[in-house]
Amino acid sequence: MAILVLGGAGYIGSHAVYELIEAGRDVVVADNLLTGFREAVHPKARFYNIDIRNRSEVDALFEKEQIEGVIHFAACSQVGESMTHPLKYYDNNLSGTTVLLQSMVAHGVDKIVFSSTAATYGEPEQVPIRESDKTEPTNCYGETKLAMEKMMKWTGRAHELRYVALRYFNACGAHSSGAIGEAHDPETHLIPLILQVPNGQRAKISIFGDDYPTKDGTCVRDYIHVMDLAQAHVLALDYLMRGGESDVFNLGNGVGFTVKEVIDVARKVTGHEIPAEICPRRAGDPAQLVASSEKAKTVLGWKPQYADLETIVASAWNWHKSHPHGFEK
Ligand code: UFG
Repeated sequence: MAILVLGGAGYIGSHAVYELIEAGRDVVVADNLLTGFREAVHPKARFYNIDIRNRSEVDALFEKEQIEGVIHFAACSQVGESMTHPLKYYDNNLSGTTVLLQSMVAHGVDKIVFSSTAATYGEPEQVPIRESDKTEPTNCYGETKLAMEKMMKWTGRAHELRYVALRYFNACGAHSSGAIGEAHDPETHLIPLILQVPNGQRAKISIFGDDYPTKDGTCVRDYIHVMDLAQAHVLALDYLMRGGESDVFNLGNGVGFTVKEVIDVARKVTGHEIPAEICPRRAGDPAQLVASSEKAKTVLGWKPQYADLETIVASAWNWHKSHPHGFEK
């Protein structure tokens, strides 16, 4: 029996595939390669170039492969783009998940782990954020991910299906082997954009707003290494295999860093001055997102290995300086 990883050619998905293969699993990857890269797919995984919105393609895959569990990463994930193109997010994230769940139910596949996000919370009332806190997304991306969680919940009540939703905070870093890492086109995330400056691809980094109610006025985020996220997917799947109930878990380090602090750490890691410029706020950004991940640690046995921000930025820098243009298409 195999594990199906949808979106396994993307940033977090490709790292999870490496982790699954290391854990001895048989892995099938499905990805439409719109934002993912064929080169990011582990050579031992069987690859299908399909789109999850296409029911007949998804059905054909379930008929060909013996799938015992699904890990679902196949979604659009840019906060800014979700504010300007909301219907793209409803189409890809919600229509895609509807088709996937229909096909899973039809083929008796009853376990799914999927990418949710800290963006489901919106502006938190308190930090660290717990899974039971209120969810009022401030952007369309978070809204579609919250709707995906609810779609799983109601599907699980009506059919034999259990799920784990993993609410990631800010994913960053790269695989320790140097084989895979973060590559988005266009890039919108803070750490890779900062590293474009010492890589000679950008003159300076823009700081989106310095008038937030935080210690230095810039946004606070909880940065979590992609390999720690990957480990959590394997644990979540094991949890469902042991008969665990459907549940939602935060994944973060529980420590917040401001945008200015991240830039300072990157200056230290790269030895480059990295000029920065204050710009207007970006639409949809909450001031502070910091996780309480106690539940994932207690219930799943999750143990993040790369909690230190300098280690995380050094891991990202190791990837970006050796792959300044990411994967070649
Ligand atoms: N930022 C800048 N300058 C930049 C890019 C980003 O100041 O050039 C700031 C952003 O405004 C934000 C912080 O850096 O305050 C982090 O921004 P990212 O785009 O790296 O990450 P986000 O926090 O917006 O979003 C990420 C994921 C989402 C997820 C969210 C949950 O991309 O998928 O974390 O916290 F929903």
